[in-house]
Amino acid sequence: MDLQQAAALLHAARRVVVMTGAGVSAESGIPTFRDALNENGLAGHWARFKPQDLASPEAYWRDPETVWDWYAGRYRDVTAASPNAGHALIARLERRKLAQHGEGAFTLVTQNVDGLHLRAGSRPPLELHGNLTHGRCEACETVQPLPAPETFVPPPTCTRCGSRMRPNVVWFGEMLPQDVLEAAQLAFERADVALVIGTSSQVYPAAGLAGETLRRGGTVTEINPDETPFTPHASFSLRATAGVGLAALMGEQD
Ligand code: OAD
Ligand code: ZN
Repeated sequence: MDLQQAAALLHAARRVVVMTGAGVSAESGIPTFRDALNENGLAGHWARFKPQDLASPEAYWRDPETVWDWYAGRYRDVTAASPNAGHALIARLERRKLAQHGEGAFTLVTQNVDGLHLRAGSRPPLELHGNLTHGRCEACETVQPLPAPETFVPPPTCTRCGSRMRPNVVWFGEMLPQDVLEAAQLAFERADVALVIGTSSQVYPAAGLAGETLRRGGTVTEINPDETPFTPHASFSLRATAGVGLAALMGEQD
């Protein structure tokens, strides 16, 4: 398959699902996880820290202050960042598909926890790994937005029961939210066309979802400047950044 064919299939598709990873937010200046050094000169988080020291339940119970400091810093950075051209094009694709083919025509699934898709005008995405702009009560599980970064002193306290809140994200060794995962699975099963953008396709179950589209006869286009373990399976792979690749695939000039 070539770019023209992939673009034509996307254009004609009645059910589209898009999966995004940290690469989609790289051009907003937000570090990815596994890149040694990305286009913007940012090193991925996991080039600097061990995941198990910061993003695991064990790390949190051992040293909640350190873990909260890291998340509070990322929350500040994400709040200060702006969505980029890639986020905007995904929101535009969503509007287009919904207008043409109705409610079920577009699903956005993200591994990102930065909330930038929503700020770019997308409907609330299926957030497989949670969202770091929110906390979740350790006692009653209430989810609440964090206070504005200027006033936020971690850890946050649940306004309902007064207990400490943890970051509302999925850590290594934890289950994904079951309802969100099931909705994502359904979207991939039903899709004519899936786009897999800016993810290293190494973290499961997220990395396995696009295979379901292929098994059911749909096509999957990957957009990533680098090869990934998914590349050999993709119907078509665009070696480009998110913004540039999406513009080419959608026939947009910007
Ligand atoms: P990774 O850091 O593993 O991969 C980022 C991908 O983005 C790489 O394949 C890069 O080649 C690509 N990339 C870099 N710049 C890009 C750009 N401008 N446009 C498009 N792609 C670009 O991030 P994820 O795959 O999202 O999990 O990582 C998956 C999960 O691992 C994360 O959700 C997080 C992490 O541990 C949790 O926090 C549970
Ligand atoms: Zn509570």
